[in-house]
Parts: sequence; structure tokens; C-alpha cells
Amino acid sequence: MSSLLEVANVSKRFQMGGILGRQEVRAVDEVSFGIAADKPEIFTIIGESGSGKTTLARMILGLERPSEGNILFRGEPVHHERRADRLKFMANVQPVFQNPFEAFNPLKRVDRYLQSTARRFLATRDKAAIEAAMDGALQKVGLSLAEIAGRFPHELSGGQLQRVAIARALIPNPPLLIADEPVSMVDASLRMAIVNLLKSLRDDLGVSVIYITHDLATAYYISDRLIIMQKGRVVEMGPARTVLDQPEHPYSQLLKASVLSADDAGAGRLAPAGDLLALSNERLGRADASRLEERGDGRRVRVYEAG
Ligand SMILES: Nc1ncnc2c1ncn2[C@@H]1O[C@H](COP(=O)(O)OP(=O)(O)OP(=O)(O)O)[C@@H](O)[C@H]1O
Ligand SMILES: [Mg+2]
Repeated sequence: MSSLLEVANVSKRFQMGGILGRQEVRAVDEVSFGIAADKPEIFTIIGESGSGKTTLARMILGLERPSEGNILFRGEPVHHERRADRLKFMANVQPVFQNPFEAFNPLKRVDRYLQSTARRFLATRDKAAIEAAMDGALQKVGLSLAEIAGRFPHELSGGQLQRVAIARALIPNPPLLIADEPVSMVDASLRMAIVNLLKSLRDDLGVSVIYITHDLATAYYISDRLIIMQKGRVVEMGPARTVLDQPEHPYSQLLKASVLSADDAGAGRLAPAGDLLALSNERLGRADASRLEERGDGRRVRVYEAG
């Protein structure tokens, strides 16, 4: 089984300076997982605000270097010094960001973004070739160049704009997309459309997607596998349905209970489910004496040594 992406024992520490002295934040703490090259999937990273999801995504995109561990894309490190190597890597691993209204300059026509991306990755100025690439990418997300040509961001709906952002990411035909909370800024009615689009990218185009979210409902709906992160650590991982149907780790149970008790998990606000929260915090206190234990059903759960 050849590997598309290999994340091996990756940690990221940030030094924070404060009036009370320097402090270290372990944004990501010994995370490992892999995505196979021959089996496109939606791999979800789920966890509350501050659990390290974006930091992990930025490291996979080569934008940030791990403090420890390695990230390999098709067997090669994702961090590249040379511009040409970086461009080649970016053609393979493309980001989709959270807020389409922030991603686009309000004074710039949206087709301009697609155009400059196409120019860069196709390394051509041939107008017909560029327009064909733009239109091809837009068709994949259910739009066309004719529909968006000459329009400014405010002239498109949030859902359309997010689809344009995804189309832009698809221009170089990447085998891997990293979508960091792509639906958190679109309203509920559009959320399913975007989520279904990610699914069709997997099923029809063979694109793997790392889907980052707070939202258990969409995670359950589209993920093949997932990892649940808490304060930088993976507490549970495995096949999405197995884990979410019957979460084993207290924090995973808390996440699920919070979704059932409050509708705002999508905004990163978790309703405190008293006992579970206390339990999971208590366990965090001795997080060092812990490891991920393999279960027969394909999942791994963090277990803590007594003491
Ligand atoms: N450049 C940085 N310098 C210092 N600390 C950072 C930096 N980037 C992230 N952090 C810290 O690392 C932790 C993880 O942040 P991260 O943005 O990865 O979380 P997240 O899971 O993406 O959260 P959210 O759901 O709110 O987007 C947080 O405690 C954050 O404050
Ligand atoms: Mg984030």
C-alpha cells in the first residue's frame, strides 16, 4: 500500500512570552496518521477550539515546521526551501479556508483568483488554456466560468463563493485537499451542499480530503476515518462510524453528549456536561502517562496509567 500522506509523531510547541514568564504551548502533541494513495477518503480532524487542528493543517501544508516528527507526502518531506519545489508540492496539496468572504478581496473579481492560480500552476499565459482550466474546475463544483465571470465577491452567495474557493483549489488537480472548517461560515442550508460536494470530489474525482471541523453531524455524515483531538493530543481515532456510534474516550463521549444537548458545537462552544468534563480534565492532568491503545474494531483510544 503506497502512501499519499504520512504524519509521524508530529508535535508543535509554541513559546509564549508573558509578564509571568515564558510559557510553552503544545499545540500539537505526537500526532500520527496516514492516508493511502490508492484509496481516496475523507479523513476528519475533529476537536474543540484550540485543540490544534489548524496548526496540524498548517504543518501538513508545509506552512509551519513541526517541532518534532515528520510529515511526508508521497514519501517526501512537505517542507521545501526552493520555490519551484514548493510550487510542485502545492499543486498536490491544496488548502480550502474557512471564510470565503475573507479569502477573497472584495474589490477583486473572483475570476481573477482562478486566473492567477491557473496561470501559476499551468505555467502558461495561453488564454484559451487558462479559461479551459478555470471552467473545468468550476464545473467540478457545479458552477461555470460564464456564471461567475466578472463578478465581485459580494455578488455571489456564501455557498457559491465557497464553491469558487474549492474550484480554485482544484485547478492543479490535487490528490489531497485540506479543508479547514469549510462549512463553519456558511449557513445550515448551504452546509450540506458543500459537504456533499466534498463527498463527490472523493467519489467522482478520487480526491482525498482532510476535513477539519467542530461539527460532529457533518463529520459523521462524510468521514471515512477521523481523529478526535483534545489539547493537541489524539484521544481517539478510527473508522468514523465506529468511533462516533460508540465513543470510548471520555472526551469523545463529551463531544457527542454536547452535540445532543446543544446545537452550538458547530461554533466550538461545548455545553459543559459536568461529570464527563471533570473526568476528562482529571485525566488530562496526567496526560504524560498515557498511550493510544488498539482495539479490535480498528479504533485506537488513549488510555491512562493508574497512579
Ligand atoms: N503562532 C502561534 N503562536 C502561539 N500559539 C499558537 C500559535 N498558533 C496556534 N497557537 C496555539 O496553539 C493552540 C492550537 O491552536 P489551533 O489554531 O491549532 O487550534 P484549532 O483547533 O484550529 O482551534 P479553532 O477551532 O479555534 O480554529 C492554541 O492554544 C493556540 O493558541
Ligand atoms: Mg482552527
